[in-house]
Amino acid sequence: MCDGIGRQAPGRMATLAVRKFPAPVTSREVFMGNDALSILDKRTQATYEVPIEDGTIRAMDLRKIKTGPDDFGLMTYDPAFMNTGSCRSAITFIDGDKGILRYRGYPIEQLAEKCTFLEIAYLLLSGELPTETQLKEWRKQIIHHTMLHETSKKFLEGFRYDAHPMGMFISTVAALSTVYPDARNVHDPASRNLQICRLIGKVPTIAAYTYRHSLGFPYVYPDNDLGYAENFMNMLWRMMEPKYTANPILARALDILFILHADHEQNCSTNVMRSVGSSQADPFVSTAAAAAALSGPLHGGANEEVLKMLDQIGSKDKVPAYIAEIKAGRGKLMGFGHRVYKNYDPRARIIKWAADSVFEITGKNPKLEIALELERIALEDEYFVKRKLYPNVDFYSGIIYQAMGFKPEMFTVLFAIPRTVGWLAQWQELVQDPEQKIARPRQIYTGYEARDVVELEKRALATAPVTAQP
Ligand code: SDX
Repeated sequence: MCDGIGRQAPGRMATLAVRKFPAPVTSREVFMGNDALSILDKRTQATYEVPIEDGTIRAMDLRKIKTGPDDFGLMTYDPAFMNTGSCRSAITFIDGDKGILRYRGYPIEQLAEKCTFLEIAYLLLSGELPTETQLKEWRKQIIHHTMLHETSKKFLEGFRYDAHPMGMFISTVAALSTVYPDARNVHDPASRNLQICRLIGKVPTIAAYTYRHSLGFPYVYPDNDLGYAENFMNMLWRMMEPKYTANPILARALDILFILHADHEQNCSTNVMRSVGSSQADPFVSTAAAAAALSGPLHGGANEEVLKMLDQIGSKDKVPAYIAEIKAGRGKLMGFGHRVYKNYDPRARIIKWAADSVFEITGKNPKLEIALELERIALEDEYFVKRKLYPNVDFYSGIIYQAMGFKPEMFTVLFAIPRTVGWLAQWQELVQDPEQKIARPRQIYTGYEARDVVELEKRALATAPVTAQP
């Protein structure tokens, strides 16, 4: 698939042959059935038939609903895309009411139990789980790309000693686009595959280097004898020993956490990956943009906020008072709630299970007691029950990460490493989707009507001074 370091095997087909994108059903085929809306526009008494396809109507079909020839036609208005499908995707399926998550049809519980993260990466990108031979070849492709160009290390040296690792991660991933200008060939499958392997191989190295930079420690080069999670741990924690040996239980727990964080259909950061990618920007800057979205406290930054919240609560007996504050509208329960899951996040359940194996090695994280009490009370309290607020993927992950020795500032970087695979699978699907074009939403204009400019010298204070909107 991506042969060697930057060398492209002449004429070799991509080994990760992604299945052809299913052509969209034409509205005529759909239109023949009863799957349609009849819309009466009371402004004109005109009626319209709008086809229903896959439980949706095409927003563009509404544009024919006009009050006259000069009318632009109807649009939908959907702040934060609460009820808008932006694409067709075969990668991840979520049933939020039932708490179901599947990658390419496989339940997340089975994948976490039976697979390694690199198998999942192959699955998300190609659509199928690899055979042993394919996995061996795939692993070889990825470890070819774990090294960073030496200039990237100098780039990292430009950051302050206390720079947040997520800021360093985002910037360094974006900087890779200057190292690999061939990444701009987004319509060349072989180039796409090469960049995908580069990014999957390099993100753990970048993540580990941001951590070592924050400690003032020398960088540790990748050791390609090791597995994906073990090699990451090696680059994080090897000191003077000639060969790093990861604790197999901690390495497996990290691998499972990577699996759980790999993809989650059209979440905020994936939407950014698709939006930036839709302009045909290269996958490095698109991934950096997605990571920037992930860093927000309402999204991937929540795992770090959960630890701050547990520190703020301080002890189990103070949980009821904290909950009362939240119910009074003073703050949010970080790690709780989800736009899609209106049931327990299946990933949170698996993380809780994985925590036990980690704590057997590291000793129990005292914050677990506070978290369990918070969950117990919240799941019984009408305020949270009514709003269907359950623990999400971020509620317990930070407690494990901290027990493994990670600082809270690293938690979102740990989310970004595996989610890079999901972003790339979604980007690859976007580039191959004949229905997609550059993303450009419309708006409802609420500003001034047309008005004439007054010359500077005549601009008395007739107009109120401009103040930032509240
Ligand atoms: C991730 O989309 C994905 O798939 C994301 C993700 C992925 O894998 O990519 O799953 C990863 O981002 C998980 C979410 C991590 N974020 C947090 O844990 C931050 C805390 N959670 C909330 O900010 C919130 O629940 C969101 C952002 C996750 C979802 O917000 P929504 O869907 O926009 O819901 P909302 O803000 O409209 O809330 C509905 C009601 C409101 O109350 P009312 O106005 O009806 O009175 O529920 C309340 C909210 O105030 N509410 C919360 C709450 N979350 C929602 N109240 C207290 N604590 C919370 N956490």
